[in-house]
Amino acid sequence: MLKTVLRAALSTTFVTLAAAITLAAPAASAATPAQLLNTYAAEAARQTPGFQPSAQRGAELYARRFTASEKMPACATCHTDSPLQAGRHAVTGKAIKPLAPRAEPARFTDPAKVEKWFRRNCSEVTGRECSAAEKADFIRFMTEGS
Ligand code: HEC
Repeated sequence: MLKTVLRAALSTTFVTLAAAITLAAPAASAATPAQLLNTYAAEAARQTPGFQPSAQRGAELYARRFTASEKMPACATCHTDSPLQAGRHAVTGKAIKPLAPRAEPARFTDPAKVEKWFRRNCSEVTGRECSAAEKADFIRFMTEGS
């Protein structure tokens, strides 16, 4: 009798544990900047065969002044001239940690966060979303060229 109860309790614990692990899995989808770069580069290569990410093009995108927004014409407007430096939001004045993983190791490790901010910032600055090629170039610049 006691054995049966114990076994039932144990198996319930196991099921609960398994469910908890399954539920926790998506939140733990951490990546490295290199993995994110590879994902965007592969997508870009499907659109443009032979595509190779370029830190130089990433640097140009980072510094380029667009005309879509007067208050935030460039990525550098909030992220400063160097992604190794802490920035400041051009409108709210809020502090922004450096974008380069060398200065801020948590950068480019959370795919959902990276996508969210690419979408928001590219749209605000350039007036459109960034392409997979531009994202790959940008991350190459952040990890190698900054
Ligand atoms: C108006 C200010 C502003 C401008 C301009 C801006 N950003 Fe950002 N960016 C932010 C803020 C705020 C965050 C989120 C806060 C944080 O993560 O420190 C952020 C975060 C990011 C992230 C997330 C990185 C990570 O892994 O945490 C990426 C990618 C990014 N920005 C790319 C860009 C690109 C590309 C441009 C230019 C096209 C740009 N940003 C222009 C304010 C700005």
